[in-house]
Amino acid sequence: MSHVMNTYARQPVAFVRGEGVWLWDEAGKKYLDALAGIAVNTLGYNHPRLTRALTDRIATGVLHTSNLWRIPAQEAAADRIAEITGLDEVFFCNSGLEANEAAIKVARKYGHERGIAEPAIIVMEKAFHGRSLATLSATGSRKVQAGFEPLVSGFVRVPLNDLDAVRQVAEHNRNIAAVMVEPIQGEGGIIVSRLEYLRGLKEICERHQWLFISDEVQCGLGRTGKWFVYQHAGFLPDVVPLAKGLGSGVPVGACVVGGRAKGVFKPGNHGSTFGGNPLAMTAVAATIDTIKEEGLLANAARVGELIRAGLESRKDAGIAEIRGMGLMIGVELARPCGELVRQALDAGLVINVTADNVIRMLPPLVMNEAEARELLRRLDPLLEAFLEKRAAA
Ligand SMILES: Cc1ncc(COP(=O)(O)O)c(C=O)c1O
Repeated sequence: MSHVMNTYARQPVAFVRGEGVWLWDEAGKKYLDALAGIAVNTLGYNHPRLTRALTDRIATGVLHTSNLWRIPAQEAAADRIAEITGLDEVFFCNSGLEANEAAIKVARKYGHERGIAEPAIIVMEKAFHGRSLATLSATGSRKVQAGFEPLVSGFVRVPLNDLDAVRQVAEHNRNIAAVMVEPIQGEGGIIVSRLEYLRGLKEICERHQWLFISDEVQCGLGRTGKWFVYQHAGFLPDVVPLAKGLGSGVPVGACVVGGRAKGVFKPGNHGSTFGGNPLAMTAVAATIDTIKEEGLLANAARVGELIRAGLESRKDAGIAEIRGMGLMIGVELARPCGELVRQALDAGLVINVTADNVIRMLPPLVMNEAEARELLRRLDPLLEAFLEKRAAA
């Protein structure tokens, strides 16, 4: 019996080696990875540039110092993040929920500074923001919240893609300090915000001087073909929580602020022992530099389009919808399809199913066109058998 706490429904496979978009299990079986550790392994596996940078860092003997001191690697990583986000200040932490927790604290402090005694944040149905008490309270899923009440107060929930719902809250609730939105909901089933909606939301934020928080923990960092989804919509948010793909597998998160949120946090307002340590910062710099040098934004757009077009050409009554942008792809089926994960593993393909009936694919950004075609070739017969089963039932 394992002493690992039983909080996950794990598949009985362990990956022990990786190269590019390929993984090998303990028995030496090879898999094509269309999930990247849930949008984490941006550069795939064993990317020479990342491996070299991390190895060089380890060779210095200094993996961690503490935020009591200056950390040059942290300053270098923050410069890069400021450049790609268009924002000003970066707080480093270690995970997505911590990045969101920091964003929620920024919003509350901003509210207090504006004279709101009990600041509230508008959040979206079906959103996922993490599993700390504040972030699970912000999350729009009863499954995540059940058993952990009392929830943290100060969140007002509205449906995604519904500006009228936000306008109504604006009319009746004077406590709102911010809107928090996952521009493409990942755990919720790859649900894409309309760009018009995001622009409308930004306008409402401007009108009421609310902060616009764009949770790009899953959809950010180049996955959609631009660095961030808000860049497709053409405006700057005030707060952008990041994690997952930021360190290509080294745990790291960041809460990036600009606009109205700039300068809200002052010394003593927030902290993290591990946040921004030299090892994680090396991974951040190598990830961002490699995305630029290898043209991985354009690659994500092109290869994502190839996969989506391939899926569209097989469209069947059993496929409700194909959604996504770039290498963030969801295939909603007409009925629950969790069994496909195991079947895909048997066929040497790593995928995920979320929201019960959505196949989710988040491949490494280094996936090339030949590998994308191979992904379709492996997925096709599984989909076909699944859809036939429905027809036979
Ligand atoms: C959009 C979004 N925000 C926050 C989180 C939480 O990140 P973490 O699991 O690193 O705490 C996730 C994780 O899936 C996410 O997808």
